[in-house]
Amino acid sequence: MARIACLECVRCGNRVSAETPQTVCAVDGGVLFVRYDMETLRRTVRRERPAELAAAAGASVGMWRYAEVLPDADPVTLGEGWTPMIQSRRYAGLLVKEEGANPTGTFKARGMSMAVTMARRYGLRHLAVPSAGNAAGALAAYAARAGIAAHLFMPKDVPMANYLEGVLYGADVTMVDGLISDCARRVAERIKEQRASGVAAEEVWFDVSSLKEPFRVEGKKTMGYELVEQMGWKYPEAVFYPTGGGVGLIGMWKAFEEMEQLGWVSGRRPRMFALQAAGCAPVARAFEEGKKVSEFYEGAETFAAGLRVPKPYGDNLILEIVRSSGGCVVASEDAAILGSIEDWAKNEGVFLSPEGAAATAAYDSLLATGELRAEDRVVLFNTGAGLKYVDAVAEAMKVRRPGSLPTSLPVGGIITPV
Ligand SMILES: Cc1ncc(COP(=O)(O)O)c(C=O)c1O
Ligand SMILES: [Zn+2]
Repeated sequence: MARIACLECVRCGNRVSAETPQTVCAVDGGVLFVRYDMETLRRTVRRERPAELAAAAGASVGMWRYAEVLPDADPVTLGEGWTPMIQSRRYAGLLVKEEGANPTGTFKARGMSMAVTMARRYGLRHLAVPSAGNAAGALAAYAARAGIAAHLFMPKDVPMANYLEGVLYGADVTMVDGLISDCARRVAERIKEQRASGVAAEEVWFDVSSLKEPFRVEGKKTMGYELVEQMGWKYPEAVFYPTGGGVGLIGMWKAFEEMEQLGWVSGRRPRMFALQAAGCAPVARAFEEGKKVSEFYEGAETFAAGLRVPKPYGDNLILEIVRSSGGCVVASEDAAILGSIEDWAKNEGVFLSPEGAAATAAYDSLLATGELRAEDRVVLFNTGAGLKYVDAVAEAMKVRRPGSLPTSLPVGGIITPV
């Protein structure tokens, strides 16, 4: 595994040691990235190494096949990563990266596996997270695995699965009447109170909010390594990524930079497409208006719960990456998202999450406008399993497809075909 050289602020370049837990840059609040000695790694680590490591491990090492480019620590793992790439039946160039295959059913497992791994190494006892839902579920699982307390704050109308995960994994769950931004405020206030009241240092919660600590990005960057390795160490032409906080997109871009430094891949980087829901589209709006940062999106509402992030902390980074890669930000209406879920289930055998379906809906609209062609090589992320959303999808169907579902299931009665 790689020794961390330092943590570096992506905004001002300030460097700090990773010997103790860090949050954001103390100078300007910028995001801290983990940096390694890339010169040494370039000389010592070949790109065949991940496959050799996986073969030697026998059991599923998942994303830890990239241990050589991840922090040196004993992993808290449930088998996350190395998810399948599914070729679309209908579009020759389209591959779906099925992140629903992860433990806890979403790509959030990657970031939380890494963050909890480091938390355990630092000896942290309490982790807190404001979440749109799936990050909370993932933190609860990995914290349970590591024997660390998890404190979850999520909107009260998240899918039932997210609440249940928190309860079952034994976390301390707070359902908030508001959005992830309100949850974040509650977490920050609690930590401030704890510090002010003089509780013992080890009892003070550590906040693992998106981009406010360095390691969730580090776990999510493995999606970038994986997609390139699974394509035979070649870049696709485009990557489609459902964007809330944008951590995966930012992580993948970091992975591309690292892989180029290591000599593992070359050529033109993919165009990065950030996909949002029209009911909560701060980044799409800023993109259209040519702005460098987004504005708080008032009245956010969409059944793609993971995309209900009204003001992403790393909005400037997302916008910079999308623009410099020649991609774009597209927001889809909930009706189109539901339509895409139905389409992919019937025609491809894939039950997309609403977030993943925001990406497929945008893919369809870009094909229709000629911005993309069906043969262009695109890797599209289905960031979660549709099965985590049965209540949300059923509700959306009841509203938009009256009569398509019974009001209650025929419990206790077997329906015999006549
Ligand atoms: C299924 C799913 N997809 C996408 C996202 C957005 O992720 P990110 O914050 O990396 O943009 C989330 C966030 O909660 C999610 O749960
Ligand atoms: Zn800084």
